[in-house]
Amino acid sequence: MQRFQSGNKLTAEQKLKLLVEFGTRTSGEIRLDKLLDIIAQQISTMLDVGRCTIYLKDIEKNELWSKIAHGRGLEHTEIRLPLNGNNAVSIVARTGEVLNFPNAYEDPRFSMDVDMVTDFRTHTMLAVPLKNNSGKVLGVFQVANKSDGTPFDKNDEGILTLLATLAGSSIEIAKLYQDVHVAQLETIYRLAVTAEYRDQQDTRAHLKNISIISYLLARALGMGTKDSELIKNASPLHDIGKVALADTILLKPGKLTAEEFEVMKSHTIYGGRILEGAHSKVLKIAHKMSLYHHEKWNGKGYPHGLKGEEIPLEARIITVADVFDALCQFRVYKQAWKTDEAYEYILAQSGQSFDPRIVAAFKKIYPSIRKLYSHISVNQANVKSAMQSG
Ligand code: C2E
Ligand code: SIN
Ligand code: SIN
Ligand code: FE
Repeated sequence: MQRFQSGNKLTAEQKLKLLVEFGTRTSGEIRLDKLLDIIAQQISTMLDVGRCTIYLKDIEKNELWSKIAHGRGLEHTEIRLPLNGNNAVSIVARTGEVLNFPNAYEDPRFSMDVDMVTDFRTHTMLAVPLKNNSGKVLGVFQVANKSDGTPFDKNDEGILTLLATLAGSSIEIAKLYQDVHVAQLETIYRLAVTAEYRDQQDTRAHLKNISIISYLLARALGMGTKDSELIKNASPLHDIGKVALADTILLKPGKLTAEEFEVMKSHTIYGGRILEGAHSKVLKIAHKMSLYHHEKWNGKGYPHGLKGEEIPLEARIITVADVFDALCQFRVYKQAWKTDEAYEYILAQSGQSFDPRIVAAFKKIYPSIRKLYSHISVNQANVKSAMQSG
């Protein structure tokens, strides 16, 4: 990456090169966090500065936020500033003007709060507005401490403004994309809670456990983070078909009769119907999960008695997560099992209920699962003793 010496005026050719290079490296990244990281890194290199921080407006909270990399860039600390504050970054966000401090600590408009939190000492500072195509201010690009120790000059202001202009639309798109993604996950999750909350002690914990186990299983099976996340996000919907069941069956305290169990089985068919024909990746996976999560590797499951790899992989994953968690939880019809007993059951059912490959993956991740459940059993004990005393 070319570094642009301060003091030297950029030629038109250099500017063009800069734009092309920056554009190439930042294009195609749709995940907001990643995009911001890449942009901050690019700017740090191009301007040769000690720190580059990107602040974005959070309109709802009337704040500016940033994730600042520190500790050799490993951890990210979230920083929030009031939009109406009197610090440099907030002023730039409000007014859209450029602020350039040759000695930050001597300017009353510079707030040292962020330095304190991140253990960093700002000497020189330059902040420019980040705008979208129609000129609306989305946030602020801030750089500090040029490596040669000189103050930022007009040329630096020009470059940073140029980069902010270039980055504006990709940041805006990534932000919209993230908003939609978050809204989608929230909707899925709330739908799943609706389906489960009649028959579960602690629906949220149950759904969370299943998501975590499914994700870890997918990773241990060698799937990438994107596919594993789809599995994680789809998994809470596996029992969505239970919305169609009557309370008399779902909440029956004790063993179901054979006829009642036949009705219970239909939650897979209902789930399949509810999610039939979905278009999004996550709902397509949820469809397979809800329809096939009670199929068994040996062909003795329901609703269709599929066998082995006839059962979609996603369903073979969720069934291990579901049964393990169901065993560990208290239900109206059964006590909670100890974590290690549930683990033994999963191992014993390898090649029977479950795909041996998935059981092998479960074995690998079990140390993490055990840790997760050691916190939960404490909570469950509380729930139970509260129920007994009430
Ligand atoms: P669930 O309670 O969430 O259980 C999900 C799956 O975990 C069960 O699927 C089963 O494979 C496994 N599982 C749960 N508890 C036990 C257990 O004590 N022993 C063993 N070996 N496996 C267990 P399954 O059997 O197809 O049941 C599906 C759903 O039907 C259950 O979801 C539950 O909502 C309901 N259900 C099953 N049996 C009874 C029952 O005897 N009484 C009541 N009220 N509901 C039942
Ligand atoms: C940002 O400020 O949002 C980018 C994080 C970083 O400093 O790498
Ligand atoms: C669950 O409640 O997570 C499992 C119930 C079922 O699989 O039918
Ligand atoms: Fe189920």
